[in-house]
Amino acid sequence: MASRNLLPFVLLLSISPVAAQQHIGAGGCASSNCHGATSAAPEKDSRILGNEYSVWSVRDKHSKAYSVLANDRSKRMAEILKLGAAQSAQRCLACHAVGSPAKSVSDGVACEACHGPAEKWLGPHTAANNPHANNVQLGMYDTKDISLRVKKCLECHLGTGDKVVDHELIAAGHPDLVFELDTFGDAQPMHWRDLKPQAGNTLPRVRIWAVGQAASLAEGMRLLATRAATPAWPEFAELECYQCHHDLRAESWRIQRGFAGRKPGGLQMNLARQDVLRVLVAQAAKDQAGALDGALAQVTTLIAGRLSDGVAIAQAARAAAQQADALAARFAKQDFDAAAAKGMIRALAADVARIANDGAHSAEQATMALDALGAAAGGNQPAFQNALAKLYDYLEHPSTYQPAEFAAQFRKVAGMLN
Ligand code: HEC
Ligand code: HEC
Ligand code: HEC
Ligand code: HEC
Repeated sequence: MASRNLLPFVLLLSISPVAAQQHIGAGGCASSNCHGATSAAPEKDSRILGNEYSVWSVRDKHSKAYSVLANDRSKRMAEILKLGAAQSAQRCLACHAVGSPAKSVSDGVACEACHGPAEKWLGPHTAANNPHANNVQLGMYDTKDISLRVKKCLECHLGTGDKVVDHELIAAGHPDLVFELDTFGDAQPMHWRDLKPQAGNTLPRVRIWAVGQAASLAEGMRLLATRAATPAWPEFAELECYQCHHDLRAESWRIQRGFAGRKPGGLQMNLARQDVLRVLVAQAAKDQAGALDGALAQVTTLIAGRLSDGVAIAQAARAAAQQADALAARFAKQDFDAAAAKGMIRALAADVARIANDGAHSAEQATMALDALGAAAGGNQPAFQNALAKLYDYLEHPSTYQPAEFAAQFRKVAGMLN
């Protein structure tokens, strides 16, 4: 019966946008025989864990995203930006309270922020043997598709035209936004069963990392194109932060490094979304490396030399986004095995001096890559994990960052995996 009733829904959906659907709110998922169990069910009894609500509400920071808008940091931000209370400012709620009906905004980033508004799929999705594709037809967001999953994360962890963390917000006190899909996916308390290796997807986490790299560049380039096309351009959040924010010293590593490809003191874009990806592409999609490098060189050269030409920058950024989209689609089907992971680790170590010279944000992406690849290559030993933690610590102090020091430490940690 239910399946016969689906047809009109499907027809309706093809003409009315999914975005118009209503959110139910996390409370609607919380009953103990749905997603609100106190402990995870064994896999033989249930495909899902059953305690997703408990994991999210107790351990996942997303459930605190609204309450942080009342902390001192948020209060000061709201004062500087003249927003009134942050908890009622759309500029903050756009990312900190999503996926709930208005009466439950205090749920912060709720289930439906990632899984899509449940109005149409809430009932049908509980039926036995209901295929995932049915739910997706009814408006469930397909978080299983890695390319789509990372786009959803990036809506808030990078931003869009309407969800904005720009230099103005950062200067008022907002944390700088940094993202890497595998590392952040791993840091989010897991409320799903981990993907198991299977034929054609030997190391699922490496594929997640690779797709995340390409998709992050694509979304980053689209955001750059949007920003470059507005009168507010240039947007400092697109540039390497510490080229402006650093102490001046006679023994300057920047002067030692030189200013390849731009005039001394010319501006450098934030290269963190491309430096590591280029190593990945050279290893795993060699035939596309030339086209990607060419498209990226256009963007970086324009930013370094013709920053005020927003129209040309937006056009070049859109071309680079297309290259990155093609790579994300390719990696989503590509197999990465242990040999590929080890090869990538060696290639990163071989190229880390170049990456480190582009600044602390690029170094941080290299570190997160080592984290993701290391996990896949069996780097769970305490010695490796400790060394990795020290590498992250080193990056906590960008004003004392020295690329040569970072690169030497990185090579040591990478060498532990061979
Ligand atoms: C584009 C989406 C976006 C917007 C808009 C946004 N934020 Fe955030 N905010 C985030 C993300 C993502 C994080 C987590 C960053 C991380 O840890 O990597 C965050 C973190 C924070 C934190 C730190 C929380 C903690 O646990 O320490 C505070 C405070 C904060 N935001 C306040 C605000 C305020 C106030 C506004 C409005 C003026 C705002 N945010 C607007 C996405 C956003
Ligand atoms: C920040 C994003 C995010 C939030 C918030 C979130 N989820 Fe998820 N959820 C995911 C991701 C990513 C996966 C793993 C991919 C998948 O299986 O769809 C997942 C998986 C699941 C699964 C397993 C699906 C399956 O087929 O195995 C269930 C069930 C689930 N989530 C329920 C919930 C519930 C209930 C809430 C709120 C209490 C919630 N999620 C909040 C991102 C999120
Ligand atoms: C609707 C906006 C939104 C979406 C979508 C979203 N996040 Fe978040 N995320 C946030 C905000 C806001 C915070 C900060 C919450 C806080 O500190 O209380 C955050 C925090 C986090 C943190 C904690 C970071 C830290 O510093 O401890 C992780 C990890 C994370 N998100 C991962 C993800 C992943 C992975 C996805 C996609 C599957 C995702 N997020 C999707 C808004 C979002
Ligand atoms: C083109 C130069 C430039 C770039 C690039 C830049 N900023 Fe700024 N930033 C400034 C200026 C100028 C100020 C205002 C400083 C003042 O008033 O003393 C500022 C202020 C700030 C402040 C508040 C004041 C302080 O020093 O604590 C923070 C935080 C900040 N920027 C972080 C960042 C981050 C993070 C990035 C990269 C995402 C970045 N900036 C990129 C020029 C820049």
